[in-house]
Amino acid sequence: MSNDAPPLPAVQTFGLTRFYGTMAALSGLDLTVNRGDLFGFIGSNGAGKTTTLRILATFLAPSAGRAVILGHDVVKDADAVRHVIGYMPDFFGVYKDMEVTEYLDFFGACYRIPAAQREKTVNDVLELVGLSEKKGSLIGALSRGMQQRLGLARVLIHDPQLLLLDEPASGLDPRARIEMMEILRELQRMGKTIIISSHILSELETICNRVCIIEKGRLIYAGPVQGVRDQMSQGRVVYVRVSSDPDQATTLLKTRPEVLEVSPLDGMLKVTLASHDTDHSIVAEALVHGGAKLIELREEELGLEEVFMRVTRGETQ
Ligand SMILES: Nc1ncnc2c1ncn2[C@@H]1O[C@H](COP(=O)(O)OP(=O)(O)O)[C@@H](O)[C@H]1O
Ligand SMILES: [Mg+2]
Repeated sequence: MSNDAPPLPAVQTFGLTRFYGTMAALSGLDLTVNRGDLFGFIGSNGAGKTTTLRILATFLAPSAGRAVILGHDVVKDADAVRHVIGYMPDFFGVYKDMEVTEYLDFFGACYRIPAAQREKTVNDVLELVGLSEKKGSLIGALSRGMQQRLGLARVLIHDPQLLLLDEPASGLDPRARIEMMEILRELQRMGKTIIISSHILSELETICNRVCIIEKGRLIYAGPVQGVRDQMSQGRVVYVRVSSDPDQATTLLKTRPEVLEVSPLDGMLKVTLASHDTDHSIVAEALVHGGAKLIELREEELGLEEVFMRVTRGETQ
């Protein structure tokens, strides 16, 4: 792709919203995924990842807003969307008593791939996911990692341009996870656009060129992985109010190496600490020790950093 042409969107959502009863699981999501992206869709458990992917996969209607996939509206042109996507749900029934090839042949038939062509198609996708050796095996006899790769083979059978993969690496051991990621890289090289969800940023940051982070149904970040790191490294912010001279308080704080910046804001002082690991009690200590009269101290309420930290470490709520 040349650098001067703007990348073509594979997925665009506009104010995408979904209620379950009165609870908003997704609130006004505006998202663009470009063609060729290996896009990480990140959020803690309950953030709204599955809801979003199910809407994109035409299995769930949005309560408001729109989503367009490769030019097709997911509600109005659902059939067209289904032809260009491969959706791997978070949990899919495994047909334990079926053989690997039987299973894929069945799905090939569902997509109306002619019988004469199906054998080659099945062989091709098995090759791609590294399961050629397991053709005749019963699905129930495969390891969890192999079953996940078979799930991937299934969504590749009709050669879709866009893959929607809902936590495909969850529950896999490190080795199986690496194998899965290798396959995704290969699929990206083949020109596929891939959206993969996870509640662990570090699981995806090495393979995805772009990520977004959602929390409680709202988008809190979309862009390159490095941007997440940059936002995290900005340090935590504490607001203080003093009844003594604010200039004196500012000077007191600025002499501390843990403090990056102090600026007045709405009658308070906005104190940016140099690192996330700094305990904010050093702010109170510096002020009180220096003789300033501290009357209020609170941490930034956004909680953004907390979310970033949580998804980075793979912790969930
Ligand atoms: N069918 C449903 N009925 C009611 N609430 C639901 C349903 N599915 C999901 N939710 C709620 O919607 C929110 C988002 O869920 P989900 O999209 O599954 O998040 P994620 O996949 O990120 O864990 C959660 O609070 C969840 O409990
Ligand atoms: Mg989910």
